[in-house]
Amino acid sequence: MAVKYIPFFPEPIEGQAILDNFSRTLRYKGNTDVKGRLQRGMPYYELETVETVGKQDTENMVIRGECLSACAYLKDNGIKVDLVYIDPPFASGADYAKKVYIRRNPKIVEEIAKAEEELDIDELKAFEEKMYGDVWDKEKYLNWMYENLIAIKSVMSDTASIYIHLDHHIGHYVKILMDEIFGEDNFQREIIWDIQVLSGFKTLAPNWVRGHDVIYYYSNSDDRIFNKIFLPHTEKYLQMFNREDANGRKYMVAHGQTRYLDELKDGKPCGDVWNDIMSFQQQPTSAEKVDYATQKPETLLERIIKASSNEEMLVADFFGGSGVTAKVANDLGRKFIHCDIGINSIQTTRDRLVSAGASFKVMEIKDGVQLYRNPVQTMEKIKSLIPGLKNEDKVNEFWEGYISDSKLGKVPVYVPNLMDSSSKLLDEVMMNRILHEAIPDLPNDIKKVIIYYIDITSKEEIEKFISDDKSTLMEIELRDLKDVLDDVVIEDYAEFECKKATQELMGQKVETDGFVIEINKFISDRVTQKIDDYNKKALVNDKKGTFKPIEISQDGLELIEFLSVDCSAAEGEWHSDSEIKIDKNGYVIVNGQKTKSFWNGTINSEKKPLRLKIRNICGDETEWKIE
Ligand SMILES: C[S@@+](CC[C@H](N)C(=O)[O-])C[C@H]1O[C@@H](n2cnc3c(N)ncnc32)[C@H](O)[C@@H]1O
Repeated sequence: MAVKYIPFFPEPIEGQAILDNFSRTLRYKGNTDVKGRLQRGMPYYELETVETVGKQDTENMVIRGECLSACAYLKDNGIKVDLVYIDPPFASGADYAKKVYIRRNPKIVEEIAKAEEELDIDELKAFEEKMYGDVWDKEKYLNWMYENLIAIKSVMSDTASIYIHLDHHIGHYVKILMDEIFGEDNFQREIIWDIQVLSGFKTLAPNWVRGHDVIYYYSNSDDRIFNKIFLPHTEKYLQMFNREDANGRKYMVAHGQTRYLDELKDGKPCGDVWNDIMSFQQQPTSAEKVDYATQKPETLLERIIKASSNEEMLVADFFGGSGVTAKVANDLGRKFIHCDIGINSIQTTRDRLVSAGASFKVMEIKDGVQLYRNPVQTMEKIKSLIPGLKNEDKVNEFWEGYISDSKLGKVPVYVPNLMDSSSKLLDEVMMNRILHEAIPDLPNDIKKVIIYYIDITSKEEIEKFISDDKSTLMEIELRDLKDVLDDVVIEDYAEFECKKATQELMGQKVETDGFVIEINKFISDRVTQKIDDYNKKALVNDKKGTFKPIEISQDGLELIEFLSVDCSAAEGEWHSDSEIKIDKNGYVIVNGQKTKSFWNGTINSEKKPLRLKIRNICGDETEWKIE
């Protein structure tokens, strides 16, 4: 349950008249629910700092959780941001997936090398995993976006700016929301980012080739920061200075005015159509890529951050993805906040920032939901874990399925949708809908329903609300989904040995300073299950009979992506004293620095390690104490 609710609206200053500019002028379906939630405020949950990287007093944050809850935390702590860039899901109708690469097993490197010569390496080593869903109906999306935007506005400083990155799917609708929230007068520019589609299936459409994103730029007031950006002049323009005066100065005459080449100091002021920033479609093998679907290039963020903030200012991205905003903000001497709901985003960003030498805290919003890796995967898992739940013959859209009871017959089951944060909380508004819309729609022979919830305002209050309502005689059982979610997580298993480090000296092994941990075995049921599912599906679809199932070795070391040792504390906040990341090609990144060596199955540390953390290739992390 949320600790408290934080009002979206700024606290009125005593004696100051305020305009109620939040009363909505647009009406989307489901707006009554939104109104109820807006009145209640942003859910504030406790935040736990799980790791500090670099300087202990850093103000930079990498937050795992929802935008709404992150804003509640910032607002409650009086933290104001100076610049916001967001690239939220676009309502594109797509599900985004991540390719998971099986790593090189240090114990059987030679066999793998041989196998790679014979087989298609990608097929042998990778499978796909869902990251986040972007499938929405328009009304839901806009209501959700409205809440997020007013939450963000409530933590923006008076001089802050916001850039929202969208495309043709929903951009123009969100522009209207932005006008409503920030005021038409604060609309600054619509930026067109020409992503320059030069080849591929997009160019084949019997139509104009669709090749741009839109970025709406608003400010909180006229008093905004704006540092003009100048771009180099084009060759064509420079060639127009083709006359020379008596002193050898090059010039041209335009509109009756003489312009000298040597007076063109700053270049051309940057306009609102950006066609000089390469997207990853044009540079698919860029070293900057971190294998995150929808990752944006650093040059794009560089332009926005340089223009709309100054050094030491706080830059926030509440849908941070691969961490591009945080990385660039840090490079440019700004402070940053990165927020995202997916574990993959948090890990990718953390590792990217470690490589960039940044200091930051990794924080987790304790919203009572063990999100597994991300909401899409958790939803799939939950459905398989509710005992007896069948959904082949769906009662209707509202109910997830039903459980067959020998005495009561079919018992419909409602499961909140984790991908839709608005359905997470069971409150009176939601219960009212169930009592007056969902239950009356059920066939007459239904005697009982089960309502799962993730978060509840108060179980007693909701039960009282049901009994006071008296609109149905049906039995309504409320069940906590967290009990099911707890079963989702089965920790990984590892066997390892911690020894004093040694070195070869005149053919003999002698002890040296430092320690070494050797990993002998690693078992991850979660990953193995994924691979089994992938193999089964691929075999069914393998019409040519050429598919070679992915096999995992006995010691399972190829399922490890990252190791870290903490030599500072045996419990509490993590402190990574030494870490190794194994990239998809098997090369190790040691303490953020890329190398051209393969992993040898060990991790070293200068001091005695107290804890070991291993992240598997799907992103689950497990910790072990070292005695
Ligand atoms: C289009 S991607 C952002 C990509 C990012 N700009 C980059 O360059 O890598 C959108 C991100 O929003 C995250 N997301 C979706 N719903 C969210 C929510 N309610 N709160 C925070 N993050 C969310 C997804 O996990 C995803 O990483």
